[in-house]
Amino acid sequence: MNPLQGKSFLKEIDFTPEQINYLIDFAIHLDKLKAQHIPHEYLKGQNIALLFEKTSTRTRSAFTVAANDLGAHPEFLGKDDIQLGNKESIADTAKVLGSMFDGIEFRGFAQKAVETLAENAGVPVWNGLTDDWHPTQMIADFMTLKQHFGTLPGLTLTYLGDARNNVAHSLLITAAMLGVNIHFGAPAALQPTDEVMTKAKAYAQSSGSEILVSDNAETAVNGADALYTDVWLSMGEQVDFHERAALLLPYQINQTLLAATGKKSTIVMHCLPAFHDLKTTTGQKIAAALNLTALEITDAVFQSDASVVFTQAHNRMPAIKAIMSATNGHLFA
Ligand code: CP
Ligand code: NVA
Repeated sequence: MNPLQGKSFLKEIDFTPEQINYLIDFAIHLDKLKAQHIPHEYLKGQNIALLFEKTSTRTRSAFTVAANDLGAHPEFLGKDDIQLGNKESIADTAKVLGSMFDGIEFRGFAQKAVETLAENAGVPVWNGLTDDWHPTQMIADFMTLKQHFGTLPGLTLTYLGDARNNVAHSLLITAAMLGVNIHFGAPAALQPTDEVMTKAKAYAQSSGSEILVSDNAETAVNGADALYTDVWLSMGEQVDFHERAALLLPYQINQTLLAATGKKSTIVMHCLPAFHDLKTTTGQKIAAALNLTALEITDAVFQSDASVVFTQAHNRMPAIKAIMSATNGHLFA
């Protein structure tokens, strides 16, 4: 019996460290199957609902292609297409969707929304990002680290920037689960919450992961195998961007900070989208207002050989394939 069959993936702690490791290895395996054109239609005939309250490039694309490759039909249901939480309660929508679809992806604001969906749908629900967590991103990111370094325990990952957002909190928990040392370079106001830190420390005690939080970027990056950053303002956040940028500029990943790791082999990660050259429409507005040429990562580092950001982005697809197959593919039955 597959212990993951029928389970939802709403946050990392829904699964054991062994199950997270299994998903990473399964994702690596599925990536190879696709490269070798070996069919893997583990969800043949299924229908998958893709609910998006927030915008997405990678997550939407990854779920769509993964579902197709697995033999399932994905159906995109955007926030303006359905009544979810507007004319109809989340619980009612969950019951309706669960009676027709075989699995549901949800990207949105409140973690409570995805939890309510899972409680009422009767089919697996997968969190495609909420304000609190980004679990499917974690399978792709730690897959990327494992592909690059061959192993995970003992590696040191340093996250720089807004260390209180969904990606930072997910990285903290996942690293602590898997025995990866996790360092943060962030100002006091944007360091991980006590609640998440307490959970992470409990995992770290058994995995041997070392957790370090510093407001000094150079201290945080010392000895890092990987540097990781994310946008300074997450979707839905209502804060003064000038103040946020002033707080986070010392944590920008640039050549100087990369050199401060003391290792030539350090790789650079970003979940994307990234403000590395400010040439996009939003980027140009920010550039004009702040007189900066890059935000969380400079273009030189983003484009350098150290950067694995597009491998991470690609890996979202096999990672999501692994999550959907393991929880809904009736494998090992
Ligand atoms: N990293 C990530 O989740 O990207 P999207 O917001 O484009 O889905
Ligand atoms: N922290 C970012 C991640 C985007 C993938 C956000 O929530 O906007």
